[in-house]
Amino acid sequence: MKQVNIGILGLGTVGSAVAEVLRKNAPAIAEKTGIKIAVKKVCDIKRKKTAFSFTADPGDIIKDHDISIMVEAIGGVNPAKRLVLAALAEGKHVVTSNKELIALHMDEILSAAAKNGVSVLFEGSVGGGIPILAALRDNLSANRISEVYGIVNGTTNYILSKMAEEGKEFSEVLKEAQKKGFAEANPKLDIEGYDASYKAAILASVAFGAKVKWNDVYREGIEKVTSEDILYAGEIGYAVKLLAVAKMVDQALEVRVHPALVPINHPLANVAENFNAVYVKGFPVGELMFYGPGAGGNPTASAVISDIIQVASSKSKIQNSKLRNLKIKGIGEIKSRYYIRLQAPDRYGVLAGISKAFADKKVSIAAVTQKETVGDTSTIVILLHEVAEQNLKAALAVIGRLPVVRRVGNVIRIL
Ligand code: HSE
Repeated sequence: MKQVNIGILGLGTVGSAVAEVLRKNAPAIAEKTGIKIAVKKVCDIKRKKTAFSFTADPGDIIKDHDISIMVEAIGGVNPAKRLVLAALAEGKHVVTSNKELIALHMDEILSAAAKNGVSVLFEGSVGGGIPILAALRDNLSANRISEVYGIVNGTTNYILSKMAEEGKEFSEVLKEAQKKGFAEANPKLDIEGYDASYKAAILASVAFGAKVKWNDVYREGIEKVTSEDILYAGEIGYAVKLLAVAKMVDQALEVRVHPALVPINHPLANVAENFNAVYVKGFPVGELMFYGPGAGGNPTASAVISDIIQVASSKSKIQNSKLRNLKIKGIGEIKSRYYIRLQAPDRYGVLAGISKAFADKKVSIAAVTQKETVGDTSTIVILLHEVAEQNLKAALAVIGRLPVVRRVGNVIRIL
């Protein structure tokens, strides 16, 4: 039986779950895989109660020649990046679920791994316990992937689901999500789409074997989505979801995060609570949907331990040299359908002015609904046929200045 010695850096939610699962399950894992995983040392800045040998000095893991795999479970970029690079330089493989570190520094980290002939795996960085990266990298390698759509942030999915199901307001549901413990310490990272954008960059890199810099990911959060939008979307057969989108269109990549109207019969529309899901379309496989817990100690430990087994059995490597340089489209270049909510006085000339502005920029209207007027203001919901975003923006700039329009309330892309 092969034995692999690991060191765990960071004993927070993920690190302590990895240690605990291995303490209980290492023999069963060994029986199943032929690999005995021994936790040689665990490290944290604060002394923690643990069944394993504890150190407060990361150097005790990085410099230990008996340890071949370091699990980085500190989170954030610093000091995780410095310690990961130091471990790679010492010839250690690294397993991490650190989405921010991988999304922001994948190129540098994979280059360092290649230079030292070791691997870095990061299954837990996207979708927690959902084995999506291994599926894209290994099990689907016979496919040409065309589309990946993910609900990859549990907090925003929880908020949008509760707003839809219970008609609650944004701030109330955010507080609930924070209490439940899956929201980031800084909720801005969830709400404004940062967390999802890290995951989108990683998903796109792995799905398309491409170098995708985090800066290339267009990002919008859910802060502008109101319960009105969710209600109106529901009336016309859509759910509102925060999506990470990675798709190949005309030999170029689109990588973006934004709220989207998802048709109610699409499998992503029914992903509720804080669950995550990733929908993949490829040839020859067709359509696939991966669903599960996107955060939490045990689900992420499942991904981390699976990576340890992959590395120990020398099955998997993500090689930077093989990542392609593909064109990544700017947001103005993408084409989409759109939902638009406007507020306007209820009088003649309103729709005429709006439809002229759209027509002038070659934007085609698919449907218009005027909601009942409250006071002297009516809400108009417009659905558009597919159009280039730059044309839409040009039309909206005109519409926003029309004397017959009080406010462009929200603009949401339709999947
Ligand atoms: N804050 C993240 C979420 C945790 O809500 O999904 C998992 O990365």
